[in-house]
Amino acid sequence: MSISTFRLHYLAKAATGVPRDLVNTFINSKLHPIRPTVLIYNCTWVCDAKCTMCNNWKWGDRKSDMTLDQLEPVLNSPFWGAVENLNISGGEPTTRLDLPEMVEMFQKHLPRLRKVGINTTGLTPARAIPMLTRIVEFCAAKGVLISIRVSLDGIGDVHDQVRTVKNGFNKASKTIEAMQSLAKTHPNFSFGIASTIFAKNMPDAENILAWARTKDLDVVFNMLRFTDAMLHNKELQESIGFHEPEEAFMRKFFLDRVQEESVLSGQAYMYLHYADMIANGYHRTMPCPFKDQGLLLNPNGDLHYCENSEKLGNVLDDSAESLYFKAENLKHRESIKNETCPTCLSPCQVNVSAMKQFIPYAKFLKRAYSVKRAPERHLETLPAVEPTR
Ligand SMILES: C[S@@+](CC[C@H](N)C(=O)[O-])C[C@H]1O[C@@H](n2cnc3c(N)ncnc32)[C@H](O)[C@@H]1O
Ligand code: SF4
Ligand code: SF4
Repeated sequence: MSISTFRLHYLAKAATGVPRDLVNTFINSKLHPIRPTVLIYNCTWVCDAKCTMCNNWKWGDRKSDMTLDQLEPVLNSPFWGAVENLNISGGEPTTRLDLPEMVEMFQKHLPRLRKVGINTTGLTPARAIPMLTRIVEFCAAKGVLISIRVSLDGIGDVHDQVRTVKNGFNKASKTIEAMQSLAKTHPNFSFGIASTIFAKNMPDAENILAWARTKDLDVVFNMLRFTDAMLHNKELQESIGFHEPEEAFMRKFFLDRVQEESVLSGQAYMYLHYADMIANGYHRTMPCPFKDQGLLLNPNGDLHYCENSEKLGNVLDDSAESLYFKAENLKHRESIKNETCPTCLSPCQVNVSAMKQFIPYAKFLKRAYSVKRAPERHLETLPAVEPTR
């Protein structure tokens, strides 16, 4: 299905939860901690690439991945009953041959599940295509939206160099082609590619965009970031982090994308905020659902509130609920809000929060229209830096 039709489906699903969302955002979460509505599950660190900007592949260890037999009792609790958005990532999710059963298990235990997201390298098409097709068809049958993105960090050799994979571009292209064709016949399925741009592939950013356009593919550009709980890559910050030339390029690149995108798209929202952050010394003004209603579960069962939180404990030792609501852990979450959120670059499920905050979102729309009309005046539109929830 087209991305805009998918967005309408998503908005329609989200709209049914608006009164609950408003009560949660403005009342419940202020009075007492609410259950998670967004969940990221890194189902393995095993990977079929060795990327330059992510070290997850160094942590691959199949033996320490929770099996489905271990996961099922963890999920078998009303605690998970509020989760609406699930993102399955890794490592490479399709290296787990039980990935379709895993999605089926989540659907069974998450009664409010609206949308599943999966990121994949697409580098092993013979395995990934049938697996992902089964997942899309299962979600269609259950009325769950599914979004899949194949990562593509360059055209041809550039992709292979970033990912250290021979013939990687051609392999990923096969998966992309199959998924794009599947999306045409499944209205619940939105498909696109995702690119992470940094010094190594910056000269190829426009090529990726042009290539995606010729194929009519939706593309999302990730902002480079460093997090151990999600990418094991803090140690890379010094060697590959942005300097002035990358910052100048990326700010313009993001503003160019705002110009082209509909201001109503989630991408325009993120790109404008990233351009803001580069311009304002990395002060975050985007909301984040992980501040008060998110969880990140890692392959061995380690639980975190978000990609920048400490480990709360392990779900094989203690229930997720007890770890989530533990006073000491909640205190840690408060400290993250004060210390880490103000400069955090995480995009994870930002749009989920954005749509639930009507006044800041209306302000964003107004500003996005003026930046669209006059991008050279972006700096004049920068909002005052005040933390948003
Ligand atoms: C960690 S990967 C896991 C899924 C799968 N292995 C893949 O590469 O798509 C998820 C997404 O994170 C992106 N990513 C990797 N390193 C990143 C970094 N340092 N900053 C921002 N995004 C990054 C990848 O390009 C990919 O789109
Ligand atoms: S970005 Fe994805 S493919 Fe690359 S090392 Fe990280 S997890 Fe593996
Ligand atoms: S903004 Fe960043 S640090 Fe704060 S909760 Fe979200 S992911 Fe965590």
